[in-house]
Amino acid sequence: MKGLILSGGKGTRLRPLTYTSAKQLVPVANKPVLFYGIEAIAAAGIRDIGIVVGDTQAEIRAAVGDGSRWGVRIEYIEQDAPRGLAHAVKISRPFIGDDPFVMYLGDNLLNKGITHFVEEFVREKPAAQILLTRVPDPQMFGVAELDNGAVVRLVEKPKEPKSDLALVGVYMFGPQVFESVHNITPSFRNELEITDAIQDLIDRGLTVRPHIVQGWWKDTGKLEDMLEANRLILDTLERRVDGEVDAESRIEGKVVVEAGAKVERSVIRGPAIIGRGAQIAHAYVGPFTSIGADVEIRDSEVEHSIVLEGSSIRDLANRVIDSLIGRNVRIYRIPVKPSAYRFMLGDNSEVGIRW
Ligand code: G1P
Repeated sequence: MKGLILSGGKGTRLRPLTYTSAKQLVPVANKPVLFYGIEAIAAAGIRDIGIVVGDTQAEIRAAVGDGSRWGVRIEYIEQDAPRGLAHAVKISRPFIGDDPFVMYLGDNLLNKGITHFVEEFVREKPAAQILLTRVPDPQMFGVAELDNGAVVRLVEKPKEPKSDLALVGVYMFGPQVFESVHNITPSFRNELEITDAIQDLIDRGLTVRPHIVQGWWKDTGKLEDMLEANRLILDTLERRVDGEVDAESRIEGKVVVEAGAKVERSVIRGPAIIGRGAQIAHAYVGPFTSIGADVEIRDSEVEHSIVLEGSSIRDLANRVIDSLIGRNVRIYRIPVKPSAYRFMLGDNSEVGIRW
C-alpha cells in the first residue's frame, strides 16, 4: 500500500497568504495542514508516500523533507500545472506501480484519521473506496448518489445536486483506476476530475465502496474553513504550559504555551496555543486562537483568529476577531494625529472595520 498526497494548486481563495506560501502549509493550531495528512497516512501503517507538487514545490520540499521525521519515505512527483486530481494520479503511475493506494488532498483534515478506512479497503478489496459526508452546499463538491448503499452516480460540482453527500478529499484505489484516468476527458473547469474517473470505474462494472465519515472533516481552502479547522483542532489539545507565565497572568482552560513563549500581565482563555518565542504582554488571547512562533501581542486583544509567525499586534483599542494574519505583519496604533487609518496591504488583502 502506498500514499499519494496532492499538494499543488494555487490556493486562490486564501490570497494574499498564498502568494508567498503554499495553502497546504498554512498552519492550523501552529502545524501546517499538510502535516496532519502525512501523520494520518503514517498512522495507518503506510511507509511510502508520494507528494504531488506544483509551483510551490520548493517550499513544500523544505518543510516536509524526506519524511524521516514521521518514519516514512517521501518522494516528490512534479505536476507541470494544476490539471486536475485524475491528472495527478496519471503522472504518479511510476511511483505507485500496481500497488493499491490512498490518495489524500493536502488541504483536507479528518479528526478520526484514515486507519479504519484503509483497513476496510484492505479487507473488501474494491476497485475504489470513497469517503462521503453530508454538507449544506453540495454544489461546491463532488456529489455521490447512492442506491441501497451502492454508489450509482458521481457528479463534480453539480448545479442541481441529487444528494447532500459530498466526496471528501480522501480516496482509495486499486490499479484499475489507471485505465479510468485515461478514459476521461477534461471537465468544465478544464481539469481531469477524479470524480469522473471513479464514475468510469462504476461504468466498467467495478465496485466502488462508499464509506461515511465518522467525526468531522474540513477542506481548508478558505478563511472560514481555516478558522473552523483551527477551532476543531485546538479543542483536541491537552493543556501544557512550558513557557514562562508571570504571577499576574491567568491561563484558563485548554491552553498550550510552548517553551520559550512569555506571558506577562495577560489572560489566555483556551482553547488556544501560543507558539515558541511569542510574547504576550498586557493582552487578552481569547478562545480558538493560534498564536504562531515569535509573535508579539501587546496591549491588545485577539480572539478566534490565527496569527502566523513573526507578526505583531500592538496597542489596539478594539479586539481582533475572526482573522487570519500572515507572517511578519505589523498592526499597531499610531499615537499622533490625524486620526486616520494607514495601510500597506498586499494584493487581495481584506480589512474589516466597524467603529
Ligand atoms: C476536490 C474534488 C471534489 C471534492 C473536494 C473535497 O474539489 O474535485 O470532488 O469534493 O475536492 O475537498 P476542489 O477542491 O478541486 O474544488
